[in-house]
Amino acid sequence: MSLTAEQQARIAALVSDHQTQPGGLLPLLHAVQDELGHVPDAATPDIARAFRLSRAEVRGVLSFYHDFRDEPPARHELRLCRAEACQSMGSEALAQRLRARTGLDDAGRSADGGLELRPVYCLGACACAPALLLDGELHARIDAAMLDALLAGCLEEGGAC
Ligand code: FES
Repeated sequence: MSLTAEQQARIAALVSDHQTQPGGLLPLLHAVQDELGHVPDAATPDIARAFRLSRAEVRGVLSFYHDFRDEPPARHELRLCRAEACQSMGSEALAQRLRARTGLDDAGRSADGGLELRPVYCLGACACAPALLLDGELHARIDAAMLDALLAGCLEEGGAC
């Protein structure tokens, strides 16, 4: 998908801010994602040129760090922690429940763009496991009923989580 004129202008300004900074590629990619919600693939040629890298090298960085996305985020993003402390407190059963309730894979996105599931590996809330992030907000000591309630808010048409 091509960039809008506004996106091109913002990316150009961010590239200008970061291209002379040592190790500036990662801060630039974070800045682009912070502003646009994702790093559009169409931006990689200009970024690569600015940093004297190949497009493949820029794409390699983007794919290595799983938090980068190449498409706009879904309306709701639910990130269930799958690391050890949460696993020991039942996150696998919650993951199964999520898959069953949404019909999505662990890293799936609904066709209408309403909900995206993404695993995460430790939210720093191990003492309150199992934990998840919903639209950036931490929810801890999650049980099946709490998960269902959070999901219901996401799945309702226009529902706010
Ligand atoms: S292991 Fe889940 S919050 Fe740390």
